[in-house]
Amino acid sequence: MSTEKSLYQTLAEYSAEDFYPCHMPGHKRNLASGEMADFYRIDITEIDGFDDLHHAEGILRKAQERANRLYGAEETFFLVNGSTCGVLAAILAVTEPGEEILIARNCHKSVYHAAILQSLSVHYYQPQMIQEYDICDGVCAEEIERLLDQYPGVKAVVITSPTYEGILSDIAGIAHTVHKRGKVLIVDEAHGAHLGLAKNLPEGAVAQGADLVIHSLHKTLPAMTQTALLHRNGDRVDRERLHRYLTMLQSSSPSYVLMASMDACVRFLEEEGAGKFAFFQKEYEKFCEKTAKCRQIKIGKMTNVSENYAMTGWDIGKILISVKDTKLNGKELSDLLRERYHLEMEMAADTYALAIMTLMDMREGWQRLADALCDIDDRIEKESCDRPEMTEGVRRITLPQIGSSMAAAFHSPREEISLREAAGRIAADFLMLYPPGIPLAAPGEVLDEELIQKIENSREKGLSLRGVSSEGRIPVVVEIP
Ligand SMILES: Cc1ncc(COP(=O)(O)O)c(C=O)c1O
Repeated sequence: MSTEKSLYQTLAEYSAEDFYPCHMPGHKRNLASGEMADFYRIDITEIDGFDDLHHAEGILRKAQERANRLYGAEETFFLVNGSTCGVLAAILAVTEPGEEILIARNCHKSVYHAAILQSLSVHYYQPQMIQEYDICDGVCAEEIERLLDQYPGVKAVVITSPTYEGILSDIAGIAHTVHKRGKVLIVDEAHGAHLGLAKNLPEGAVAQGADLVIHSLHKTLPAMTQTALLHRNGDRVDRERLHRYLTMLQSSSPSYVLMASMDACVRFLEEEGAGKFAFFQKEYEKFCEKTAKCRQIKIGKMTNVSENYAMTGWDIGKILISVKDTKLNGKELSDLLRERYHLEMEMAADTYALAIMTLMDMREGWQRLADALCDIDDRIEKESCDRPEMTEGVRRITLPQIGSSMAAAFHSPREEISLREAAGRIAADFLMLYPPGIPLAAPGEVLDEELIQKIENSREKGLSLRGVSSEGRIPVVVEIP
């Protein structure tokens, strides 16, 4: 147990004192400020003794150092604007405007946003599909090597591991390849802040040698939404430049509530992490045992896929519930789980639904999910004698043709046209399924029939699309100036 006071304790004690706030925030810690008043008690600004995130020298510096000790990087920064902010800062810090970058095509939209902000010339790595589950595979180090040989001007490589669905890549192998050519490796590990924090969990990207690693604490650990960390690992990235971008991209009034939550999360992991992770792993194993008897529904597992993929593991926190080749689609499964069993999924895709489980899930949650899936499996088994037609995945598997740079298309004059007329036109904005926020098309890409058909299919299935209006219209480039 640490003897050093947590940021939360320090804030709570301060709030109990009689200092009168002649400063921001405007609620003045006044408990008559409305329904949220309880939260305002510890919501302060950079007053004496409470440090400044942008020039951390005291309590916030110590809190970040504590987080850093947990992950073992060179330096760790608190982020109050999610991994989004970390991804933007990381890419902007290692590239100059107009330079080249290599990104995995299944990266989160924040990676694409950074490319637009810095007018980068983007080369793609296209992961293959894991056919058994209609999801993207991990990143293959040899293929990264080939692409770096093809594009020697690339400054940095950006990949996501684990993916939204939990697929892990060989970060050590990729880091070796990238570093051999003097480039920087950025790993968006937004979904993997828990990796490496207990024995039996796979190693995280910091331990495997990535240069910049981004973690959303709020996704897989007990911390408030928007909390995240950026780790600088080794000395390939200029610290001052990274710091300059963080200062630019983070609010000048970082929330003490969010920062206290990050500090509390780190302390919780130090003190109770081992026990909680052990419980998490045990419950996962029991869940797998129970659901192994399902004959229609399949739970995503490394052991169920062929050996020819690049993936090195499957995160146990991502429970992919596949209904591929059954009468249900992912959306119907997710609706059923919500309506009949009161289990709300993280997302629904064409052939699967995805549940996120963490070290904070209780036995009841695991049991309810397993029981519901066994029950649904029984019903599908009884109701369906005929094999349904195969559902077609909606994720792109071929790389698009590029009509212009992402930034040029994004900033060009645009018009809205119907999807049906869009083949051959250049996208002016992103088209994506949300979640997970991975673009199906990015600005500058030439829209083709295959993609348009996939988007139409997604609309018909009621999947959650962004970038397409309810009338089926999308923005395209009028002309590149
Ligand atoms: C892979 C990945 N990276 C980054 C982000 C952005 O994270 P945040 O919501 O913490 O800004 C997300 C969000 O879903 C994500 O899935």
